[in-house]
Order: sequence, then C-alpha cells, then structure tokens
Amino acid sequence: MESAVRRIGVFTSGGDAPGMNAAIRSVVRTSLHLGIDCIGIRRGYHGLINGDIVKLDFESVSDISRRGGTMLYSARSLEFKEPFGQEKAIGTCKLMGLDALVGIGGDGTFQGLLALANHGISVIGIPGTIDNDIACSTYTIGYDTACNTALESIDRLRDTMKSHERCSVVEVMGHRAGHLAVSVGISCGATVVLVPEHPVDFARDVAEPIRQARLGGRTHFMVIVAEGVPNGGYGVAQQIREELALDTRVTVLGHVQRGGSPTARDRMMATYMGNEAVRLLAAGKTCRVVAAQGEEIVDYDITEALSMKKGLDQRGLAVMHALTGVRQG
Ligand code: F6P
Repeated sequence: MESAVRRIGVFTSGGDAPGMNAAIRSVVRTSLHLGIDCIGIRRGYHGLINGDIVKLDFESVSDISRRGGTMLYSARSLEFKEPFGQEKAIGTCKLMGLDALVGIGGDGTFQGLLALANHGISVIGIPGTIDNDIACSTYTIGYDTACNTALESIDRLRDTMKSHERCSVVEVMGHRAGHLAVSVGISCGATVVLVPEHPVDFARDVAEPIRQARLGGRTHFMVIVAEGVPNGGYGVAQQIREELALDTRVTVLGHVQRGGSPTARDRMMATYMGNEAVRLLAAGKTCRVVAAQGEEIVDYDITEALSMKKGLDQRGLAVMHALTGVRQG
C-alpha cells in the first residue's frame, strides 16, 4: 500500500526524557522501511521556525537508543506561541517539502502540533516526559528511567540517614503532578509521600506517619516531596525540624532525574510508539497522539487527548498508606 505521506519531520520538544532517542530511531527506521523520507528538526519548535534541520538516514540513528537526552536537542519556544512564529514554521515545512510531523514531548508539544494541523500538515504526537502527566496515556517515555534514577539516589541516602538516625526529605520532579513521587515513594518504602494533588495537612500527613514509625521502632525516616507541593522539600523539612525536632536533611534530585541511559522499558515503549506514529501517518491518519493503555499501544485525537484528566494511582496510594504503620480508624 502506498504511503499517504512522502516526507516526515521528527522533533523533540519541552523537557528531554530518557528514551527519546529510541523513539527517534524508531520513527526514522519505520519511515525508511515504508519508503518515506525522514528529516530531523533540531531544537523543537525553535528549529522548525528557523529551518534547523538534519537529514536522517539508517546509519545516523544507529547506536542512539542506549543514550540519554535527545540527539535532536530540545527547547521551549515562546516565539512559536505567536501566530507569526507558526507562519514561519509552516514556511519551513513548505520549503523542505514536509507533509507530516512527529513531535515527541508533552501537552505543550501536542498543542503546537494542533496549531500546525490547522494549516494542513499531518501531525502525530508521542508522549515523552519523565512526569508521566499525559492524561490519555498510562505511560510516558522517560518515566521508568527517572523512577529508577531517583530510587538509586534514595537508596544511597537511606544508608547515611540510617547511620545518623536522621530524617531525609527528598524533592523529586514531576512538574504539577505527583506520579513520579508516588511511584518513587512506593518503591523506596517511604514513610511519607506528599503530592500537589492532595493539600498537605502536616499533622495528619507528615507528623502522624513519622510518629507511628518511631513508635514502631524506626529511627530514620524517608519523606518524598513532589516539586509541585507548595514550599517544596525545604518548606516541609523546616516544619519537621520545628514541630518534630528531628535532625533533617534535604536533597533536591533535580535534573539528575532527566539524564542517564534509558531502561529497557523506556526503550521498548519508545520503539513501539515511534513505529506506531509513522504507521498512522502512512495510513493517512493525522491529529493523533500515540498512547499506552497498559501494555497496549493505542491512539487518540489530539483535542480529545488534551481535554482528558489524569488521576493519581489510587491503588498505589492505598497500598503505600497501608504500609506506613498508620492505623485506620
Ligand atoms: O517536564 C519535565 C520537567 O523535568 C519537570 O519535571 C520539571 O518541572 C521541568 O521539566 C523542569 O524544566 P527545565 O528543564 O526547563 O528546568
């Protein structure tokens, strides 16, 4: 069957995430397999505006899946939010003969794709962010690696916190969401996990679990705080010192969580998603976001995807609370 598109531009936008390179490789190699040309656009929408492109062939994406970051660089473009920026981007597509675009990133990336689709370009989004905050997808590229990276650091912190019988407050990324904090908290056996989705009641959410753990014999405590919680890790630590008189240290994991070689899960999901994005374009589909629903790869209309809301892992939260030693009722 002949492909509905002839030349695809692929780019990464917003915060980078481990696994983006595997997605790029998959987009390029699937395109070539289907007889479609593939061009890399560097620096996201900024590069699309300025015609910052690189020709991608089979060999140029060899041995990139195991590397963190993105070989196409990433950026957040303010210019693209303005109509004149979008017109310049359309101009680049016309000049380069690009009839389709694959954008790898978060909701902001998908909003940009929607604007371009309104000018007749076929577009597909792939969810790539360590935050796992894309509502239509149970999984986003980079999430598993970020969880594991945070976990490795927290395991190290626990050694020293235990030796000194201290309280450790660790701030993890996640933007305005607490998905990363919950997964990391469950995996490291945290005493407390605070997320922006739930307003913090210090007595109930921090003091009580720590007290129960202390009564149960514990002398060191791990408190995970999502960066979106008001006053962040430093604010929570200050209150722990003042109200519980615990020797407390703060660690902000920051951008360390965005780096490193992607896990097998991230490489696999990125590879499947990249493949699906090109298959959709070749079949004449546009304005779709490739998504995961459990182990299945599905796709949604971009407008519908952007209107969806994602809740926290309620089962995970319930299990975590059951294990912190706080009695129900
Ligand atoms: O969206 C990914 C993310 O790492 C968020 O977790 C974080 O809030 C933000 O990006 C940081 O962005 P920047 O790299 O621009 O500081």
